[in-house]
Amino acid sequence: MAYWVLFIYLCNFINVFRQATVEELAGLGAVVHTCSRNEVELNKCLKEWQSKGFVVSGSVCDAASPDQREKLIQEVGSKFNGKLNILVNNVGTNIRKPTIEYSAEEYSKIMTTNFESTYHLCQLVYPLLKASGVGSIVFISSVGGLSHIGSGSIYGATKAAMNQLTRNLACEWAKDNIRTNSVAPWYTKTSLVEHVMFSNLLVTIILKF
Ligand SMILES: NC(=O)c1ccc[n+]([C@@H]2O[C@H](COP(=O)([O-])OP(=O)(O)OC[C@H]3O[C@@H](n4cnc5c(N)ncnc54)[C@H](OP(=O)(O)O)[C@@H]3O)[C@@H](O)[C@H]2O)c1
Repeated sequence: MAYWVLFIYLCNFINVFRQATVEELAGLGAVVHTCSRNEVELNKCLKEWQSKGFVVSGSVCDAASPDQREKLIQEVGSKFNGKLNILVNNVGTNIRKPTIEYSAEEYSKIMTTNFESTYHLCQLVYPLLKASGVGSIVFISSVGGLSHIGSGSIYGATKAAMNQLTRNLACEWAKDNIRTNSVAPWYTKTSLVEHVMFSNLLVTIILKF
């Protein structure tokens, strides 16, 4: 049986989460569709995966745009015959600063990227997950959504919201045979935290928690 997977967003830099997720699932025989805002990077990754024999396709999509989210899920629906087995919500961003220094624009950017996009994507893919008969949602959350780890209060709040959404959907959509889980990684070397991990903050902030 073919497994259809939508992996939301590429990981740049050393591609830790992308490599682990896309390659693991595609290696197990899943048909994967991924997306990114960056067409050049997307095509480079697709070429690499295809050369390894993985069945992976992709779309350019900005998760912060309602229109682009809708278009993406329409593409996925028609590509996978109206069915989807797994949705991986990996998109995330951060601006790390003291709480009183955040502007309204920064608040909105982190909220929209990390939580609002994920919430609406879940709504959009629900019919596809249900139609598959065996659906699963995996959120890439963070330890920052469970404790204070110096990652900024807005980022922490978005990941905590994601953790609660996991609990809600796990109960609400269980009747449709859709499982919902969160993975909460600790600091991992990617473009999101590279600048923190290679600075003195590693000692003064990260190791403190
Ligand atoms: N690294 C860590 O220590 C760590 C720890 C815990 C949790 N996490 C979580 O892991 C996930 C992946 O992060 P990462 O560390 O791999 O960082 P990353 O390399 O910066 O990956 C984040 C990805 O999200 C995508 N993205 C951001 N805004 C987007 C938007 N508006 N529309 C579409 N895509 C967007 C970017 O894709 P494009 O630029 O290609 O569009 C980027 O590749 C995030 O949810 C993050 O919060 C990371």
